[in-house]
Amino acid sequence: MSQFPVRRMRRLRRTAALRRLVQETHLVPSQLVWPLFACHGEGVRRAVGALPGVFQTSIDELVKDAERAQRLGLGGIILFGLPAMKDGTGSEAYDEQGIVQQAARAVKRAVPDLLLIGDVCLCEYTDHGHCGVIQDGEVDNDASVYLLGKVAVSQARAGVDIVAPSDMMDGRVAGIRKALDAAGLGRVPIMSYAAKMASAFYGPFREAAGSTPQFGDRQSYQMQGTNADEAMKEIRLDVQEGADIVMVKPALPCLDLIRRAKQEFGSPLAAYQVSGEYAMIRVAAERGMLDEQRAMWETLQAIRRAGADIILSYFAPCAAELL
Ligand code: PBG
Repeated sequence: MSQFPVRRMRRLRRTAALRRLVQETHLVPSQLVWPLFACHGEGVRRAVGALPGVFQTSIDELVKDAERAQRLGLGGIILFGLPAMKDGTGSEAYDEQGIVQQAARAVKRAVPDLLLIGDVCLCEYTDHGHCGVIQDGEVDNDASVYLLGKVAVSQARAGVDIVAPSDMMDGRVAGIRKALDAAGLGRVPIMSYAAKMASAFYGPFREAAGSTPQFGDRQSYQMQGTNADEAMKEIRLDVQEGADIVMVKPALPCLDLIRRAKQEFGSPLAAYQVSGEYAMIRVAAERGMLDEQRAMWETLQAIRRAGADIILSYFAPCAAELL
């Protein structure tokens, strides 16, 4: 029909004002969630070697970051914890005086309106570094689900607004929902890491969170990156079990899954731009190989364009500052 020279696509690209008018995908600070790492002590702000710009912070310092998140209008923060002691069952994860529980109370006291998410998992707290408890050399599903329910309840009691299980045990959303409801915490939503791939891009996080498995790997519970239909099944199960928000992780290697999940399910959809995705850009930029800000926007917009409503990213404060 009306093709060239009538149709000239470049007409709407000529000036910044025209490009702005026809921009289809937008990003606002309230769509961004900032991952933070809480450790014991006071006045601690320890840089993570594998993750430039990311710190392990004691609660007093973490509160400063939470205040910054609030000032920037971020969607929220998600807390990971570095326990004082690790053991076989990750007991600090469900201790009322655990690091995340203490941090949650302090953040809620200082910035009550900031949305606070608790990452629910055992891997930072177990001496073997797996996301569940070990029975006969394997990760025992149902015993782990029981403990994850306790983690969620203790975090919710400490004030987190959303619990986010990242362990990939079967039935954990149902188990956590049941535990929360039995504790009178029916109001607390669950954001499940529903389709979480066994990914090399979690490498730097494991240094930040001190959660590298001491034997084996996570392939008996995290998904194979090759399987899209299975990913949809995982998400469907979590929705049926009561997940209020579902997540796909990692983000850039899974843009097709984000798109399919957005089309197939009505639930709010989150995507996690994980540590390795962030580190690649940071380190390449440090070496002068690419422009950090442009690469940051390009990836965040791609994740939005694919269909994510919410993005968890270490770029959150930096992006919000520029928005
Ligand atoms: C723990 C957990 C992981 C991440 C979030 N929660 C690591 C893992 O599964 O090994 C990864 C986040 C990141 O890489 O930024 N269950």
